[in-house]
Amino acid sequence: MVIDRQLLRFVRDFSSYRIRLYGNGYLRRDPVSLIQLRTGIEDPYPLYERIRAKGRMVRTAMNGMVTVDHRISDQILRSRSYSAATKEAKEAGLSLLSMDPPDHTRLREVIAGDFTARRIADYRPLIASVVAKLIKDLPRDEPFDLISTFAAPLPVAVITELFGIPDADADEFVRHGTEFGSAIGGIQSLAHARRLLATRERLAEILDKVIQQRRREPVDDMMSRIANADGQVRSDELMPLCTLLLIAGFQTTVNLIGNTVLALLSNPGQRELLADHPDLAGQAVEECLRYDAPVQRSARLTTTAVEIGGTQVPAGETIVIGIGGANRDPAVFADADNFDITRPNAKDHLSFSGGAHYCIGAPLARLEATEAVREIMTAAPDLRIAGPLERQPGGLVRGLRRFPVAAA
Ligand code: HEM
Repeated sequence: MVIDRQLLRFVRDFSSYRIRLYGNGYLRRDPVSLIQLRTGIEDPYPLYERIRAKGRMVRTAMNGMVTVDHRISDQILRSRSYSAATKEAKEAGLSLLSMDPPDHTRLREVIAGDFTARRIADYRPLIASVVAKLIKDLPRDEPFDLISTFAAPLPVAVITELFGIPDADADEFVRHGTEFGSAIGGIQSLAHARRLLATRERLAEILDKVIQQRRREPVDDMMSRIANADGQVRSDELMPLCTLLLIAGFQTTVNLIGNTVLALLSNPGQRELLADHPDLAGQAVEECLRYDAPVQRSARLTTTAVEIGGTQVPAGETIVIGIGGANRDPAVFADADNFDITRPNAKDHLSFSGGAHYCIGAPLARLEATEAVREIMTAAPDLRIAGPLERQPGGLVRGLRRFPVAAA
């Protein structure tokens, strides 16, 4: 019954949103609409330049404003004067991502300690052994999909460990987690919505089992801290927090690995440089974060009337921050459209956001991607694209769904 009501609401909202999106994109040529449609999913970067040419703060046909100006984006993300509780983020139930202080601070504190560089370094042996196994098993005499064969299994193994999922539930957890993670790119159809609702129920059951177990026998891990943070995590906040961590862990790092390998295969000079200096892998990953960010945009809400970049913006206005466009701002990055793994200021990208919502998983994502990229480019020096690429839908998450390659 509840599911039916949710489905009906979804169909109504989804249909009217898509109609507006198509109308504004294809008829009015609104760049913010187009970045969510096929044109932008394939290549959003010319659209960001169209926005940049219009100004530092631009009104969009989809309500609200957009910026691809690096300085303004950085300022908004770092400022405490804007709210993260946009209508879309709240409706999606994105836990921390849609919360403001003091609730945001209270909840983030519960997990912050589990993501420090020191804690994350504990995952190094697991990451190294998973990467080594994946490399050993790479098909040598036939093409394969780099995403499902190599880029996805690593973050999936790490997040399963982080959540303390018992081996008996691991396969099901991975299957449902992958399905659920696909929601971040937007719900694609009624059948997709129906699958997601069923998946959410089953994931909640698996997570609840771990939570109950950690309440009975707490150990020194993240789930024990979440499960036993009485007074700091309300019961209705528990599942959304776990779900956010799950989606973030499943859906983003895989694209960082895929996008970095794609950028290297598309830029033979940079690939040779990395082959000669494998210790540049970390910089290749950092430059990929700038050049082809796995999360392309964020949004904030003005809480009072403000002047931003010379534009008056009223209170309650949504501002879309085009992270992928800000990362190519020529005022900050020289030859911004070039992929250059020796770029001195690649780290100034906004791909992990900034301020209070700065990505908590950034050290983990960097560690996993660096290890994966260094090892695959060393082990498969002749890696090449071996078929048509298929992109993730939606355009918010930028990455490949299918990436056919051959290792020899
Ligand atoms: C390449 C990989 C990743 C990228 C590009 C990425 C990107 C982002 C971005 C852009 C935000 C902030 C959005 C905003 O300000 O509105 C964010 C927040 C967050 N990320 Fe990541 N992320 C990645 C990996 C991860 C991983 C591996 C985890 C955890 C396992 C994670 C957990 C989180 C959490 C919990 C937040 C919310 C923080 C808050 O609101 O306080 N992320 N991430």
